[in-house]
Amino acid sequence: MVEKQSDLVGRSLASVWHPCTQMQHHETTPLIPVSHGAGAWLYDTNGKRYLDAISSWWVNLFGHANPRINAALIDQLGKIEHAMLAGFTHEPVIQLSEKLAARTGNVLGHCFYASDGASAVEIALKMSFHFWRNAGQGSKQEFVCLAGSYHGETIGALAVTDVALFRDAYGPLLQKAHVVMSPDARAAEEGETAAGVARRAADALELLLRERAGHIAAVIIEPLVQCATGMAMHDPVYLAEVRTLCDRYGVHLIFDEIAVGCGRTGTFFAAEHAIATGTAAGPVWPDLLCLSKGISGGYLPLSLVMTRDTIFEAFYDVDVRRGFLHSHSYTGNPLACRAALATLAIFEEDDVLNVNRQRAQRLTVALQPLAGHERVANFRQCGMIWAFDAQIDDPAAAATFSRRFFARALENELLVRPIGCTVYLMPPYILSDAECDLLAERTATVFDHVIAPSGRMT
Ligand SMILES: Cc1ncc(COP(=O)(O)O)c(C=O)c1O
Repeated sequence: MVEKQSDLVGRSLASVWHPCTQMQHHETTPLIPVSHGAGAWLYDTNGKRYLDAISSWWVNLFGHANPRINAALIDQLGKIEHAMLAGFTHEPVIQLSEKLAARTGNVLGHCFYASDGASAVEIALKMSFHFWRNAGQGSKQEFVCLAGSYHGETIGALAVTDVALFRDAYGPLLQKAHVVMSPDARAAEEGETAAGVARRAADALELLLRERAGHIAAVIIEPLVQCATGMAMHDPVYLAEVRTLCDRYGVHLIFDEIAVGCGRTGTFFAAEHAIATGTAAGPVWPDLLCLSKGISGGYLPLSLVMTRDTIFEAFYDVDVRRGFLHSHSYTGNPLACRAALATLAIFEEDDVLNVNRQRAQRLTVALQPLAGHERVANFRQCGMIWAFDAQIDDPAAAATFSRRFFARALENELLVRPIGCTVYLMPPYILSDAECDLLAERTATVFDHVIAPSGRMT
């Protein structure tokens, strides 16, 4: 039954507590009732369409209602929807683990499953801590994260998240982490390259490790792009530098690839960039790698932690207390794993990483008017992520920029939600040339509306 848009909005506001939302803002900010999706487009109940330029919080890779993923799920529904993974196993979870391990050359040989990204981060932190305890080094209980890091919002993940808005209210509940300099290329001093910033950030990390490594279990980073802090991008040399430091000081390295994995940065894993850009002899594999979001194609909650076999083996024992004591009811859900297998099949069948290079080039060219805009700073791109910072002098206008941009974008058939004054695009990997051009043109139109060249805010 098709309901009037306003009916759904009213019922939602009366009964649904929306995430990451000051609910009172919906007195002025629109809430969009989605009726269906097709390809890169979402449709509301009035038939209005929106180009999903942020892949519905960075999860959707191959479009909404993708026929191939749909078919895999329908097939799986006829077999088994869910079975507990303790004491039982099934083909989808085995195949997925094998395929992902193969993509790391079997360096990360085991996968541990959960549902959301934050759960994967919890698992990686607990696993690192427990590894060291099993290894007789129980004093290694501390974690290191980067300035501006975001690893999720459960208590453990929030402890290694350095975004004041999410963290401050819950500060008393959190274990204190070491926060070290971000390699964000925008921090370059005059004459300094992005690689120079990365090396400076690695030096800062080394100072800490030299002093505290005996107490530190792991360093956790978002390789290449710290997304939630505003698409802060860094040089891949940072990955190689941090790997070397973690080896030197006996500390685990955790890559949180929840947002940047699954082809988002141009390689399947961001960890592969070091070799792709010639900054290291091979991929820089971490000890633990967290994956979520795009792995299920944006269909179902699925997250996982890939581990080196040395970590797996440290838990392998007759004593149950030396085993990894963690579980979620939906661990390794067969439907979610089938969606993931269908997603991986599309990567292979459609040569997605190569085609994305051309697609990215097209969008980058189309965005050049914005890149050169007088009120735009730090236009940047990594794989299928684009970002730039709006230059706004008036603090009051800056404080409302994101919401005003979002609302104006909706009027222009775009789903784009800036982070503070950073506008970013993170579209699904299916945009046609025409959609790339439309996205670039409309983003520029919206930007011009929201920030007038004279500085007058509309
Ligand atoms: C890098 C990173 N880690 C962890 C998370 C948390 O994932 P989830 O929202 O699924 O808990 C996110 C979500 O945006 C993320 O970007």
